[in-house]
Amino acid sequence: MERNYRKLWWQHCLAIICFSVIPLLFVNFFFYTLFDRIYTEKIKENLRSSAENQRDSIDLFFNERIAQLFTVANTNTFEELTNETYLNKVFDIMHAKSNSYMDIGIIDNEGNHVSYVGPYYSLLKAVNYKNEPWFNAVKANGIYISDIFKGYRKAPHCIIAVMVREKSTSWILRVTINLKNIDDIVQKAWLGHFSDAFLINKANQLQTRPRFGGDFLETPSLPEFTTASLNRPTYPDFSSIVVTKVERRVLHGTDAFYAATPISNTKWVLVIKESPEELLTPLQKGKYWAIFLTTLGLAIIATGAALFTNALINRIKETDRENAANADMLLQANKMIALSKMAAGIAHEVNNPLAAIAEKAGWMKDLLAEEDLAASKNFAEFDESVDKIEQHVDRARKIIHNLLGFARRMEPAKEKISVNNLLEETTGFLENEAKYVNIGFTKQYAENVPVITSDLSQIQQVVLNLLNNAIDAIDHDGTITVSTRYSEKTDEVEIAIADTGKGISENELNKIFDPFFTTKEVGKGTGLGLSISYSIIEKLGGKIRVQSKVGEGTVFTILLPKQ
Ligand SMILES: Nc1ncnc2c1ncn2[C@@H]1O[C@H](COP(=O)(O)OP(=O)(O)OP(=O)(O)O)[C@@H](O)[C@H]1O
Ligand SMILES: [Mg+2]
Repeated sequence: MERNYRKLWWQHCLAIICFSVIPLLFVNFFFYTLFDRIYTEKIKENLRSSAENQRDSIDLFFNERIAQLFTVANTNTFEELTNETYLNKVFDIMHAKSNSYMDIGIIDNEGNHVSYVGPYYSLLKAVNYKNEPWFNAVKANGIYISDIFKGYRKAPHCIIAVMVREKSTSWILRVTINLKNIDDIVQKAWLGHFSDAFLINKANQLQTRPRFGGDFLETPSLPEFTTASLNRPTYPDFSSIVVTKVERRVLHGTDAFYAATPISNTKWVLVIKESPEELLTPLQKGKYWAIFLTTLGLAIIATGAALFTNALINRIKETDRENAANADMLLQANKMIALSKMAAGIAHEVNNPLAAIAEKAGWMKDLLAEEDLAASKNFAEFDESVDKIEQHVDRARKIIHNLLGFARRMEPAKEKISVNNLLEETTGFLENEAKYVNIGFTKQYAENVPVITSDLSQIQQVVLNLLNNAIDAIDHDGTITVSTRYSEKTDEVEIAIADTGKGISENELNKIFDPFFTTKEVGKGTGLGLSISYSIIEKLGGKIRVQSKVGEGTVFTILLPKQ
């Protein structure tokens, strides 16, 4: 049965592709996921350390300010500081090193603003803070850092106040922080072009102005973990565990990385917001590379699979062809064996009756020769009939002879033969006969044809069969070309007998070697010539092939091994 090579091709090709592509995709996917995870972790780690650095800076800033305030409060008396000229001098010194303060004020135990240096003199000088929440907080704790609030001055500001006990009374030193200092620290957390960082208080109100939208004391929308779950220790409880949280969240359709860390000595939380698009650009690039390399790998695998499958299928086709040819040969050989057995049987059975008929016919002929019978009026017809009987018996004998020749399994002789000489001799038998019907012989013998070891008379029989067929096919007017060739590569001698006869149709081509196949009229051909020739050549270890074109001619080729 004919194989479906196309289907086989696809099956093979797809199998190879599947088996190589699946692991490739799997490995790529695995590495990409791993890379993605590691990279995202790295980003989070960076964010965390950035947040913690800025938090520490803010903590340090406040600690330094508090220390400075205590120093000022403890190295100067209430008396001295209520003198505004003196206070101004002190403020100048405090201000000399850093630009951290907006103003300074001294408040007595009753909440009276006893002295003040700063831009809001007229507004704040007469104020009594007794009922302000921070006033009581500082009295209770000794120190107070406020959130951002507007207060009397109606502008966002943040104060630090420390309480000083002096003899039997106590007073308060209060400064306003220059918010720019805090802003500067917070802004250092901006890593990229789309980074944002800001502080929020316990009520989630903005304590610094964000980079993109929002103002002091507004409540920005933030993921819950930045606002609620953080542990927010308050001064002086430094021992509390301070946690920094980093997450990636989508809020109102905006995807972002958030880092949140509480500031120790305020009640604030530092929030950093980063754009994943910006941070993940290298990852995106990695993704494109992975896609590119995977596609390239796929292309290489597909091409390789196609080429490999092509080679494989070609090889299978070739093997199939060889197998088919072998099967044909085997079939032919089997037919021959079966037939030769049958032929031997028939020949044996028919020979005896034929001998008897021939004998009786001879006897009848002798009797007919006697005088009185010769005078009979039907003598001529009797005589003719007996002749016909003898003629047909003869023919039958010939067939039997051929059949026996075919059936006889003679061991071929091993003699040295010059193929060219053999052909020259054999054509000689027929040349004259052919000349009558205007058929010429052309001979093209190769000079390098070696002497071979084979059976001369059997080869001669084959050549005669082929030449006779050629003459029959031409009928009259034509050429028979007999040629030889020697192939060193295969060590075979090739005899070709080409005629310009009527040719053989494709349909008949695979039947001509069958015994009894003939296209000749009844009585003219037995149809055994080629099948006998085939079995002879096969026995001699050679091959016989035919090529033909209807109307142009036929070439029979015999290949004989040298030994
Ligand atoms: N050279 C040829 N050109 C055209 N047809 C051929 C040729 N040789 C053989 N054939 C065809 O093959 C058939 C079988 O040939 P084969 O020699 O076996 O039998 P035959 O020639 O018919 O009979 P026989 O050989 O017994 O006289 C022929 O009848 C003929 O049709
Ligand atoms: Mg013949």
